[in-house]
This record gives sequence, structure tokens and C-alpha cells, in this order.
Amino acid sequence: MTIHTATAVANANIAFIKYWGNRDDALRIPLNGSLSMNLGGLTSRTTVRFDPRLTADQFTLNQQAQHGKPLQRVSTFLDLVRAKACGVTWFAEVTSENNFPTGAGIASSAAAFAALSLAASRAAGLDLSEREYSALARRGSGSASRSVPGGFVEWLSGSRDEDSYAVSIAPPDHWNLVDCIAVVQTGHKATGSTEGHALAPTSPLQAARVADAPRRLDICRRAILQRDFDTFAEIVELDSNLMHAVMMTSTPSLFYWTAASLELMNQIRLWRKQGLPVCYTLDAGPNVHMLCLEPALEEIQKRAAQVGGVKQLLTARPGGKADWVDQPAAQQAA
Ligand code: DP6
Repeated sequence: MTIHTATAVANANIAFIKYWGNRDDALRIPLNGSLSMNLGGLTSRTTVRFDPRLTADQFTLNQQAQHGKPLQRVSTFLDLVRAKACGVTWFAEVTSENNFPTGAGIASSAAAFAALSLAASRAAGLDLSEREYSALARRGSGSASRSVPGGFVEWLSGSRDEDSYAVSIAPPDHWNLVDCIAVVQTGHKATGSTEGHALAPTSPLQAARVADAPRRLDICRRAILQRDFDTFAEIVELDSNLMHAVMMTSTPSLFYWTAASLELMNQIRLWRKQGLPVCYTLDAGPNVHMLCLEPALEEIQKRAAQVGGVKQLLTARPGGKADWVDQPAAQQAA
């Protein structure tokens, strides 16, 4: 292997049609396809260095050395890369930085594993196709498959490791959609997505949610391609509500909404009735993603800042694909 170190950057993404529940938990083959937009500027930057002197994998996130489960998850992922790059047996040092709050429904694992997929592969001397990077990222975190291609993205559920990957359906400049994220909580959530996916089959509503997913995907895909905001808003809110209904009716039940989340959802519906192009969606956390058209952004920021419990507003426009960051030659040779 000639290159031992590589750095990659990937955006987080927000799902319009959600991934919730797997057909195969180990391989992260989802029960339904999903649709998302990359969040430009909300990034994870990850460097991987394979080093013959290391006696174990190391993982540093936001300048803090990680142990236990987070390290194990990264190490298991590196095993996949080592297996693909026949002959690579060295342990690696992984250093990752997110520029947004971790663990509060902004899907930090998506950006993290998309960047790790590119960085680790290149550091191990692999040269894969975008589909293969997406499928590989999926093994680390399902939603990470969608942070590999650019712009507006669809994860084709597939049924096997090779055919479950994401593709871009439109470039970032296709639509002036903005995600204005109302942060109501920045701490770590009580139940992570991985545990949540495993609980999905215990909800009597999950089968109905999954059965109707192809219809919602069709409507949402068409609305994006035709830039039809009204249709988009209705289907995105329905899909978010369906996923949270499944979460709330799982055993044990998962309630991610707080009073502030609910207040924002009610206000957003009202604002839309008043003519503002805005709708909401929430991931596995209480933060409310307010999706709006660019001309309405300022007004929405003003209104949202007045809602009780809103601590911070983040703004993201459609983002590009995951990519490598060139490194100085001296570092590559290290
Ligand atoms: C609610 O991709 O974070 O954000 O595969 O276990 O890492 P793992 O789960 P993850 O699940 C994302 C769930 C969601 C919806 C979505 O992004 O589609």
C-alpha cells in the first residue's frame, strides 16, 4: 500500500422520507428507501492514518479520545476496510471533528461515517466507485450512505450489501431549499438511532409505515424534481409524524419531542397557513428542522427566535458530495 493517511470531509444530511427499521440489522439493510438533502457547511472532517507501530485502533472525536462503544464502532468499520484492502493489517489512528452539536438529532454519525468511508479507503490504498463508498458508509451508519453523493439524495433500500446504496437525484443548486434548524437541546439523546431501529418492529404501526413508504417516496421525489413546495411540505410532515408515531408506540416507547419541539411544529403549521413556504421534520431528537424556501428564511428565523426554548438557529443550504482533502506530500509519506 502506498498511501497510509488520508483526510475526507462530508456533510450531515436531513431525511425528508425517513429510514427507521432494518431488514438486516447487522448489514444495515433498511426496510424502506429514504430521501434526504445534504446539509452544506455542517461537516465532519476525518483523518485516518494506518500505522505499523500501533497496537490498537485509536479514535479521537472533537479532541477527546474515545473508548468503549464509539471506539468499537469505528474499529469494526475499519475491519471492513482492512478486509476489502487485502493485505492491510495495521491498526489506525482516526481523528474526527464535527462543526455542529453531536448527538441531538443532527445525524452526526451520517457525516462521520461518510467521511470515514472515504478517508479510510484511500488511506488503505482502495479506489472504489461512489456506489461502493456509499454502501460502505452504510455499514457504519445507515444514514451515512446518503452523505456520500451530493445534493438531493435517495438511498435505494436494496436487499443485499451491494445493492443498498444512495444516489444523487438532483444537484445542490437544483432548488433553493434551506434547512433552518431550531436547536432546543444540545446534549446526548437518551436512546441512539441504532437501538431505536431495533425497537421499530415492536410498534404495531411500523408495518403500515413501511408498506406506504414507496408511495411517499414517489410523491416526495416528484415534488423535489418539480420544485413543488406545497406537495413537498405535506409529505415531509406526514413522514416525520409517521416515524415519531412508530417511536412513541414501540416497546419500550421512545419520545424524542419536548414541549419546545411541539410548540415549534404547531407554529410552523400556522405560518404555512399564513402563506410562508415552511414545513418541519424531526430526526431521532428534539431539534426541529424547519425546511423553507430561501426568500422566507429571514422571516422564519425572526419568528423561530421568539419561540420559547429555542437555544440556537443553524442554517444549511443543499450541500455537495463527500470528498477528500488534499494533504501535504510530507504527511502522506509519513
Ligand atoms: C431518524 O443512520 O443514525 O435520522 O444506522 O444505526 O447509525 P444507524 O442509524 P442512523 O438512523 C437515522 C435515523 C433518522 C432518520 C434518517 O436519517 O433517515
